[in-house]
Amino acid sequence: MNLKKWSAGVAGVAVIAVVVGMALTSHSTIDPVSPPQAGHFSHDEIARGQQLYQAGDCAVCHTRPGGKRDAGGLALNSPMGAIYSTNITPDPQYGIGGWSFEAFRRAMREGIDREGNHLYPAFPYTAYTHVSDGDLKALYAWLMTRPAVHEAAPETDLGFPFNIRRGIWLWNQLFLDKGPLPVARVPEGLDPARWERGRYLVEGLGHCSACHSPRNLLFAEKGGESHLGGGEVDGWVAPALNAQSPAPHRWQEEDLYQFLKTGYSPRHGATAGPMAPVIKEGTSALAESDLRAIATYIAGLQKDRTDRPLLPVKAIESATLRSTDSEGARLYSGACMACHAQSLGADMHGVRPSLQQATQFHLATPDNAIRAVLDGVTEPASDGLGTMPGFRHNMNDSQVAALLNFIRQQVAGQPTWPDLEQRVRAIRAERH
Ligand code: HEC
Ligand code: HEC
Ligand code: HEC
Repeated sequence: MNLKKWSAGVAGVAVIAVVVGMALTSHSTIDPVSPPQAGHFSHDEIARGQQLYQAGDCAVCHTRPGGKRDAGGLALNSPMGAIYSTNITPDPQYGIGGWSFEAFRRAMREGIDREGNHLYPAFPYTAYTHVSDGDLKALYAWLMTRPAVHEAAPETDLGFPFNIRRGIWLWNQLFLDKGPLPVARVPEGLDPARWERGRYLVEGLGHCSACHSPRNLLFAEKGGESHLGGGEVDGWVAPALNAQSPAPHRWQEEDLYQFLKTGYSPRHGATAGPMAPVIKEGTSALAESDLRAIATYIAGLQKDRTDRPLLPVKAIESATLRSTDSEGARLYSGACMACHAQSLGADMHGVRPSLQQATQFHLATPDNAIRAVLDGVTEPASDGLGTMPGFRHNMNDSQVAALLNFIRQQVAGQPTWPDLEQRVRAIRAERH
């Protein structure tokens, strides 16, 4: 048999299989209901729903800058184009006011909207699928008792073939593990109930792996050893949280608790990018026991790691202050040390993150550090951290590169980043 014909035949059969599969599994519309009245839900259920809503960061994606809460319209950049979040307020026309609990549960579990259309996995239903029925009910009670916003969110319009939502059926066959999390073994020495609770929150509503896991060519999260092994979002590296964590100090429970509560941990530093809203809208507001449980689970992933030895920072800093022969040292002592040096006095501007311990200077790529220096940190994760000015207009590309490679090598003790100046230029050009 002619090989060409044969492969055409195989391809034909595959296409038929997909089409038939799609036809057999086409999803029905769930009839609209009138929005449930507030008295329909108990006070306790609504309060519990609020906590879950925070654990799930719903508002981070469903509110656009300057827009009304949960009215949608935030553009999420995907390799296929912009995907807009939807209005999830109880407005019957533009929001989910007409959605029964059944319709809401199907969306969260299977990524299918009330009318039976597949939703794009930019909506992290691959994580939310693990949420229990009881928690979904509470979440529904919270959402349905918020003020309705009568406003349409922009429609997502990706190019062919990504505009064919039914194609997501196949993606789900490959990558959606529907329903409760599979049973896993509790690492030795950890409190089982607390660890299970942490795992449920991290892998379910917290959807931490949506940003902290690498993705494959089909935009699905990689599992196994790569799970929580470091990902990317909006040009920022989301560092590994598992045993591959690049942080010089192992993240211990107390560090994680403080970081997820406030955005800062003295042994690690501060959040500088897309993690800030996750903390502000999400983890900072969780019940103490839930936040401790998340910390237990994440610390458990790294518990066999050891700390990396660091150079003596006070000696580096006093040498830097005397140094006049290196451009990087001059820029560092002139522009950064007033707020970052550990050897200098009180904190004048909120916290004083140690740049030696900051994970940003221990990553394989310089992007996070470049973004922090060019744009500063203008929206801290919590009050009291302080802000940092951006140096976009004060330093040129070669100065930023000299400064960052000085910190990288002399302060953090890592090999310099190659082609740093080109990278600074490229990131600077993304804006303006
Ligand atoms: C990472 C961003 C992100 C987060 C976090 C997120 N969503 Fe969404 N959500 C989206 C996007 C994007 C869509 C639209 C997907 C599409 O058009 O295919 C969506 C769609 C939905 C829909 C379908 C609505 C409709 O009209 O079709 C519901 C319901 C929903 N989200 C609820 C939630 C809830 C509840 C939470 C918090 C537990 C949440 N989302 C958190 C991004 C997000
Ligand atoms: C006016 C004080 C101030 C100056 C000057 C300053 N910073 Fe910052 N920087 C801060 C504060 C405060 C934070 C924490 C902000 C937050 O999280 O809200 C921070 C955060 C950072 C972060 C992220 C922290 C982390 O732990 O990952 C980096 C990287 C950083 N600064 C680098 C620099 C560099 C390099 C310079 C010199 C060019 C500099 N900063 C100058 C105050 C300052
Ligand atoms: C929207 C994407 C996103 C989500 C969701 C997210 N993170 Fe992050 N996270 C980041 C990014 C990006 C950074 C690094 C830059 C920064 O500070 O923003 C980060 C930094 C961190 C750090 C500091 C790591 C280090 O070594 O410096 C920890 C710890 C962390 N996240 C934990 C979590 C946990 C736990 C969750 C789930 C509850 C979570 N993150 C959810 C994007 C995300």
